[in-house]
Amino acid sequence: MSAPADRHDRAPYAAALHLNAGQGWTRLGVPGHQDQPANYPSLTALAGPRLLAMDIPMFTEGVDLAPAGEPGPSPLQEALDLAADAWGAKRTWFLTNGASQGNHAACLALRALSGHAVVQRSVHTSVIDGAILAGMRLEFVHPNVDVNLGIAHGVTPAALDEVLTMYPGAAAAYVVTPSYFGAVGDVRALAGVAHRHGVPLVVDEAWGSHFGFHPDLPASALASGADLVISSTHKLAGSLSQSAMLHLGYGPFADLLEAPITRALTALQSTSPSALLLSSLDVARRDLCLLGHQRIRASIDDADLVRALIAEGGRFTDPGPAMLASPDVIALDPLHIVVDTGSGGVPGFQARRLLEASSRIHVEMATDSVIVAIVGAGSRVDAHYIVNALHSMPAADENMHRAKDRQPIALPQTGPRARDVRDAYFAPAEKVPATQAVGRISVDTLAAYPPGVANILPGEVVTAQVVEFLQATAQAPYGWVRGAVDPSVAHLRVLLEQ
Ligand SMILES: Cc1ncc(COP(=O)(O)O)c(C=O)c1O
Repeated sequence: MSAPADRHDRAPYAAALHLNAGQGWTRLGVPGHQDQPANYPSLTALAGPRLLAMDIPMFTEGVDLAPAGEPGPSPLQEALDLAADAWGAKRTWFLTNGASQGNHAACLALRALSGHAVVQRSVHTSVIDGAILAGMRLEFVHPNVDVNLGIAHGVTPAALDEVLTMYPGAAAAYVVTPSYFGAVGDVRALAGVAHRHGVPLVVDEAWGSHFGFHPDLPASALASGADLVISSTHKLAGSLSQSAMLHLGYGPFADLLEAPITRALTALQSTSPSALLLSSLDVARRDLCLLGHQRIRASIDDADLVRALIAEGGRFTDPGPAMLASPDVIALDPLHIVVDTGSGGVPGFQARRLLEASSRIHVEMATDSVIVAIVGAGSRVDAHYIVNALHSMPAADENMHRAKDRQPIALPQTGPRARDVRDAYFAPAEKVPATQAVGRISVDTLAAYPPGVANILPGEVVTAQVVEFLQATAQAPYGWVRGAVDPSVAHLRVLLEQ
């Protein structure tokens, strides 16, 4: 195929990336290294001018394989063993397609144990996709939801117990903790419940890959008795985007799970995994183990100072205490900074835009009410700069200074389930205007992103409230609805009426 030569003079994505890199952003989102080469020298040394030399093919002797003629273990195997040791796992796998791949693999592996699993309804959409790929039926346990802040928390041990009792013979109990907002569930109690029902506890700990590396951080899911843990190392633990880990615990299900996971990953891992991503996992582990103690304390101090200065300012509310009061939350990650900007007159979506426009501060996410800023485990942030930028934001509406006058876009209840997720996903469908979709059965997963928690699942009845929420999200600055057939959610795909 030929195209005008001048079109190919351009490398627009790379050019935009270079431009962005030169703009001096304060990055308060993922990846956790947050472009701080001074704080991540080992990671920085991976690429630089040696980028091409470091990008090697799979099965290179002396790297992926032991040096020719020498007995193993290979450097790759050693790196995997060290990671398992650092996270307290019986076995660890490196992933090059994010925690999403970990969730896909976990679902495929669990399907080998049983045809259904009990899953927290607010799991990341990659769990839903994994279940669809694997052909595994999902029974849902519902999290507590703070409707006004747009936050789904975790599940209580009692709620998990109830659903496991209703659906015996499940492959596993599958929960997500911490939440996108840093709220941590009681993994020890959840593992106890799952084990009493004779099933493993799988924890999507995407947002807690740094847990356990400092006494002031929450305990890790593995240390709390989880059997299989999905860890998005690039989020806060200092590896490159898309690199992640899957950890097998030492618990009673290790032998049962190991072979199906290995098999699932063989199917789902690229046969050309990026050596840069793999090596970034190796150096992230080394830095957490060697330097983590001191560096993480400094990161927590910076995050604490942001919170203290916000409290001192008196304009914005900290939703932390209310989150902690939720019955399914036992701790908060100090490296997640959640600010209820709505309480100070600026909806979260708008606050995110204002911070970018006025101060080149990028935060990880926003809902209509809050923003979530992340401090990488090892990163440093200028608390005064951030809080000054927050306080400089003009209120969108003077009335909104009074919390009771706010009309946030409330997180809607999910619609009733009418079909199994996978049956609906593969059923004959039609695309209809959103108004006509109300009352019909969705064939798609639609999720306001971030946090990527499905607001509609295949098989659920579409409700007017959910459509309204998704359309409002799509219209908000940076709003994106993952899985929508058009960006404004003007149409939905629903089951064909016979
Ligand atoms: C809870 C949870 N699990 C899994 C993922 C997917 O992680 P990744 O981007 O590493 O694929 C995310 C992404 O935000 C997430 O929030």
